[in-house]
Amino acid sequence: MSLTTPTAFAVYVHWPFCLSKCPYCDFNSHVRHGGYDEARFVRAIESELALTAARVPGRTVSTVFFGGGTPSLMQPASVAAILDAIAKHWSIAPDVEVTLEANPTSVEATRFRGFRSAGVNRVSLGVQALDDSTLKELGRLHTAQEALDAVAVARANFERYSFDLIYARPRQTLAAWEGELKRAIDEAAEHLSLYQLTIEAGTPFYGLHKAGKLAMPDDDLARDLYDLTQSVCAAAGLPAYEVSNHARPGAECRHNLVYWRGHEYAGVGPGAHGRLNIDGRRYATETERRPENWLARVDSAGHGLVVDEKLTAGEAADEFLLMGLRLAEGIDPQRYAALAGRALDAKRISILREEGAVETTASGRLRVTPTGFPVLDAVVADLAA
Ligand SMILES: C[S@@+](CC[C@H](N)C(=O)[O-])C[C@H]1O[C@@H](n2cnc3c(N)ncnc32)[C@H](O)[C@@H]1O
Ligand code: SF4
Repeated sequence: MSLTTPTAFAVYVHWPFCLSKCPYCDFNSHVRHGGYDEARFVRAIESELALTAARVPGRTVSTVFFGGGTPSLMQPASVAAILDAIAKHWSIAPDVEVTLEANPTSVEATRFRGFRSAGVNRVSLGVQALDDSTLKELGRLHTAQEALDAVAVARANFERYSFDLIYARPRQTLAAWEGELKRAIDEAAEHLSLYQLTIEAGTPFYGLHKAGKLAMPDDDLARDLYDLTQSVCAAAGLPAYEVSNHARPGAECRHNLVYWRGHEYAGVGPGAHGRLNIDGRRYATETERRPENWLARVDSAGHGLVVDEKLTAGEAADEFLLMGLRLAEGIDPQRYAALAGRALDAKRISILREEGAVETTASGRLRVTPTGFPVLDAVVADLAA
């Protein structure tokens, strides 16, 4: 399969603002107590969409994702304007999935109906935890009850919604996590993203951790928490379809599948990444992260791109492997071979297979096993090397 084979086409819109910065987070999110000119940012996003569409015309948009930052701080009219701009440049699939990430505060929940009218049909809520002392420690601006109230508003307005929880948190026990997770499953219906807390360099949590002030689970407990997560979710009919994502079969986030399956996506807004297939080559794009600098670039050049790089065959193939092996469905080795210009190393596959880390399905796909997933990075490094 070559890059010119029709694939899904997604649009990612990054909204970089938050009301406050959570101490664990290293996403491209910024607090602007003095406010910002929302209309100007929307116009700049429209400008990037126009230039991207000129490079990759004729696509049919299968998914749109408003991520952040906190896109639920946007006015519904801004979301509508951006969706209109997308529809002006490309065809929209009749079953398009339009997701917006929302923080579960009461203020934001009041906008859900407006987002629905604007064309959003799925929300992803950052619930993070279901107990108040943890939420406080995570620097969140909502209580557990407020988050659950926002989930109820989401349920009333959208046929599809998901929420995120962070686990393997300081002092978390297996019993407490099991109770919290089961409660989350009752509320979540079709999709849950469950992330193990990562200590990111440069965040306040990084400093606390280094100073020995965060009682993080040791490796054994972290592994037990992960195993518990897999078994509780699978038993509830929400198996992992990706390392951190669980869904009822058919309810997977189609937008994120575009990334993991190595399909095509445009990324607009500050710090957004994209992958475009142009003339049989794959381009990696990245825009300026700092909102004001991004705006200045768009004002002068029409776009905020700081990276626009043609990937080599090897780079495109390795990325396909890295992303695809995150999925329970695994990868098609023939697509890897078409991208790389050579097949995966059969000897390495057979060693990993003997170790129980990978398996080949009846249809010939290569996938990581439940034993291999906890050491996924090592498996990928082995195959890509
Ligand atoms: C891009 S954030 C935006 C979501 C939204 N602003 C919010 O906080 O509710 C997406 C998700 O990444 C997860 N996340 C962020 N930093 C993390 C970290 N250091 N470790 C684990 N998960 C993290 C959180 O669950 C968060 O909901
Ligand atoms: S976790 Fe969400 S709300 Fe918190 S700083 Fe990161 S993007 Fe903003």
